[in-house]
Amino acid sequence: MPRLKKLDVVSIEDLSTAEIERIFTIAEELERSLEQGKSLTSAHNLVMSTLFYEPSTRTRLSFESAMHRLGGAVISSADMQASSAAKGESLADTVRVVSNYADVIVLRHPQDGAARVAAEYATCPIINAGDGSREHPTQTLCDLYILKKKKGYLKGLTVALCGDLKYGRTVHSLIYALARFGANIVAVPTAGMNVPEYVLDRLAAERSYSFSTVTMDELKSLAGGLDALYLTPSAPHQMALFAGGAAGERAPAAEPPAALDAFYVTRLQKERLGSKESPAENYVRFDARALKTHRTQEAVVMHPLPRTNELAYELDEDPRAIYFQQAAAGVPVRMALIAWMIEETAGKDVRLVTPAEGAVRFRAETAPRCVNSNCITRFEGLYLRPRFRAARSVDPNRFNLRCDYCERELSAEFVGHTRSHRYYKFDESMHGFVRQWIADGSLAVFDSVKQAEEHGYEPYKRGPQREILKGGEVSQAVESLADQIVADIPDLADVTLVGVVSHGGLLAMRLRALIEKKTGVHPPCAAVDVYSAADPIRPLDGSEEFSAEGRTIVIVDDVINSGWTVQRAMTMLWQIGRPGAVKLAVLIDRGHRALPIRPNYVGKNIPTSRTERVQVRLAAPGAGATGKAQDRVMLYSMVEPMRESEATR
Ligand code: NCD
Repeated sequence: MPRLKKLDVVSIEDLSTAEIERIFTIAEELERSLEQGKSLTSAHNLVMSTLFYEPSTRTRLSFESAMHRLGGAVISSADMQASSAAKGESLADTVRVVSNYADVIVLRHPQDGAARVAAEYATCPIINAGDGSREHPTQTLCDLYILKKKKGYLKGLTVALCGDLKYGRTVHSLIYALARFGANIVAVPTAGMNVPEYVLDRLAAERSYSFSTVTMDELKSLAGGLDALYLTPSAPHQMALFAGGAAGERAPAAEPPAALDAFYVTRLQKERLGSKESPAENYVRFDARALKTHRTQEAVVMHPLPRTNELAYELDEDPRAIYFQQAAAGVPVRMALIAWMIEETAGKDVRLVTPAEGAVRFRAETAPRCVNSNCITRFEGLYLRPRFRAARSVDPNRFNLRCDYCERELSAEFVGHTRSHRYYKFDESMHGFVRQWIADGSLAVFDSVKQAEEHGYEPYKRGPQREILKGGEVSQAVESLADQIVADIPDLADVTLVGVVSHGGLLAMRLRALIEKKTGVHPPCAAVDVYSAADPIRPLDGSEEFSAEGRTIVIVDDVINSGWTVQRAMTMLWQIGRPGAVKLAVLIDRGHRALPIRPNYVGKNIPTSRTERVQVRLAAPGAGATGKAQDRVMLYSMVEPMRESEATR
C-alpha cells in the first residue's frame, strides 16, 4: 500500500494555483526552520528514489538533501547505465519495480513524455525532474519562489526569456506558470530556437494566452525606448509588445509596463540538437550593460544553471543576479513539495490519475507513430501503446492528433474504420464520423495509402476497378526485373536485396530465387518495415545477420505511390551502415511520384492518374504455378467518403 497519495507532478500544470501557493508558504516556514537549525522529522518513515537517466548536479542533490533534511531516506540511481536500463529494461517496468522500494520517485529522463509514462506505471507518485525537452516543473517552483520573493508579486511582471527556448525544458514549465500568474512574457529566442508550437497551442487553448517574440536587437531598442518601438508600423506584433498580444488574445496587462522586471537566460541545450541542427550562431551573451538603461535597471537576472558562456561572471556580484539563489531555493522548495505531499496524504481529498479526457487508444496494428523522434513512445518497445487526443487543425483536409505523452501533433491524411476495414482520405465532412469512431474505439490513422493497404484496409468505394495484370503477366514482370538486375550489376556477390514490407519482401524473395536460378548466386535478402520503431530491418534468411556496409543494396518494392516509403527505407539503411551503392527495383512504375525518386529497374510501366491507385497481390515464393496464377495487379480510383448509415456497419 503506497504511503504517499498518488500526486504526480509531471507538468507544472498538474499543480493548481492554490497548491503552488501552499507549497511556497511551506517553503518559507521550512526556510525559517532550517535557519534556526531545527531538526525535522515529517518524512522519517519515507523513502525517496532518485532515478536519473541524465546528468544532474542541482536537481538531484537538492532533492536528496531536501529528503534528508525532512528526516527521510534516499535511494539513488544516478547513473542508469549501472542499472537494468543498460540491459534494455523499459522505463515502465523499472518504475513499477522501484515503486515497491520507495514512496516517491524523482525521475530525470532524456525522452519527451517519459515522466508521463512513469506516472502511469508507478504505484507511487512521480516527480518529473526533467523529461527530454518538455518540462521541469520543480525548477519552475524554485524560479517562481525566488522571483516572487524579489519582486513581491508575479501578476503583471514582464519577463524576457532569452536563448534556447526550443529545447529548454525549464523555460516551457516557466512559461505555463507565468501565464497562469498573469505575468507578461517577451520571448527572445536565439535564431531557430523559438518556443515550440505545442507549447504555444497549449497556452492558447487552456489559458487564452499568447506573447510576443522579438530579436535581441529589438529587445535592445525596446529597453532603450519603448515609444520608438510602438511607432514601427511594419511589424505589428511589436506594436502589441508588452500590451498583451493581438486584440482579444490575452490581457494580463492593460497598460504597457514601463520596464522589464526579469531576464531569464538559458543555456543552449547542445545535447538535444537534432542531427541536422547545427549549434546556434550568435547565442545570447548577457553582461552588466543590459541592466544599465532606465527600463532595465530594476530587472533581476535569472538562469536555471548550469551556465556555459551566456552569463558574464562580472554579473555574479550584482545584487540583481539571482541565479545562485534560484539554485539554493532547490532545498526548501523541494522540501516543501514533499511536505505538501505528506500533508495531502493526511488530508481527505483524493486525486486519481486518469488518462487525459477524450484520449484515443488505437488497436496496436493501426496505431500511428508519434512524429517526434524523441518521444518516449518510440523507445519503450511494443507494449506501450501510443495514445493521442484529437487536436485542432488549420487545414480542413488533415486530421490532427496530439500525442498524450510528448504533446507533439501528428497530421494524418488518411483515416480508417477498424471494423469495416475501409480507409478514407480525410476531409472536413468526415469530422462527425471520426468523432464517432474515436468514441467507439474504431479509428485507425494512416500516413499513406500504402500503409493503409498493408494493414489490409481497402479504400472506401473503389470506383470502377480494373485488373491490369494477371498471373502470367505478373510473373513476366518479376522475371524482367530479375533480368535487369543480373544484366546491370557486374558482381552479384555484392548484392543484398531489401524488400519493403510487406509486398516488397515477397517480391525480393521471388527475385532472389530467379537470380539464383539464372546465375547460381544466392544474394542475402532482408525486409525493412518502415512503420516499425524497434528492429525495422531483419534478414529473411533466419539466422543471418543483416549488414549494409559496403554492399550494393537493391531496395525492392511493389509500387511507388509518393516515394515516401522508399525514402524512409533509405534513411533506415543509412542508420545502420554505409552501403557501397543503392538501387531501386519496383514491379510497377505508375509514372509519377511526389518525391524525386526514380527506379533503376522497372517490371512494368503503367501510367495512371493521380486519383488512381495500383494494388498488387503477390503469391509467396515457391507457391507453384497455381499460386502464381493468383498474382494480380488492380487499378482503381478513390471517390467520395462514406455515408452516415455505413459508418456503423
Ligand atoms: C536544467 C535542466 O536540466 O533542464 N538544469 C537544472 O535542472 N537546473 C537546465 C540545463 O541543463 O540547462
